[in-house]
Amino acid sequence: MSIRINDIAPDFTADSTAGTINFHDWLGGSYAIIFSHPRDFTPVCTTEFGAVAQLAGEFAKRKTKVIGVSVDSVADHGKWVRDIAAVAGAPADFPIIDDTSLTVAKAYDMLPAEFYLPQEGRTPANTATVRTVYIIGPDKKVRLTMTYPMSVGRNFAEILRALDAVQATDGVPIATPANWVPGQDVIVALSLNDEQAKEKFGELDIKLPYLRFAKQPV
Ligand code: BEZ
Repeated sequence: MSIRINDIAPDFTADSTAGTINFHDWLGGSYAIIFSHPRDFTPVCTTEFGAVAQLAGEFAKRKTKVIGVSVDSVADHGKWVRDIAAVAGAPADFPIIDDTSLTVAKAYDMLPAEFYLPQEGRTPANTATVRTVYIIGPDKKVRLTMTYPMSVGRNFAEILRALDAVQATDGVPIATPANWVPGQDVIVALSLNDEQAKEKFGELDIKLPYLRFAKQPV
């Protein structure tokens, strides 16, 4: 099943390092990031979870919950977080889901294509989740999806930047341009004419009739 922007994030109940979690209850009315990784005790994944652990304060500032997923058990997650803390110098305090049943991996389309091919002779490599990221809004709708292959570690500074952009544009008729970072000008939606846009956002920097910048609303 593929997940599209604005789909309601699939609900599930699963064991995790923070006990049994019903995902929708856990979300409450918060922004959240659910991200998968292939396997515990693997090198790239250890650096990724370390990076998320180091950014705990940044996610908290953005009132965004974080939850990890892989096809490993809670017992493995519990041992692996010690390695993460030792390498990153920060504890991985966010919950990590035990998805040994592949329930979450299937619901969130986190498995590689080969998973669907061999029904016999399957190896750990093709039941490993790939590196997906979903940003979920307070309305439980999927706001952003990202999928990286096993061989490429994610840039969590970019994920934070994208989260900032999602939050900045939420419910406001603006969009963010390429490479935008908070504080830079934003693009006014085409649903507003120039007069309406000026009234709402103040002075415009009109580059093209369809490319109009305004200061980021505070
Ligand atoms: C890694 O995170 O380094 C990794 C994950 C799955 C297979 C091989 C390596």
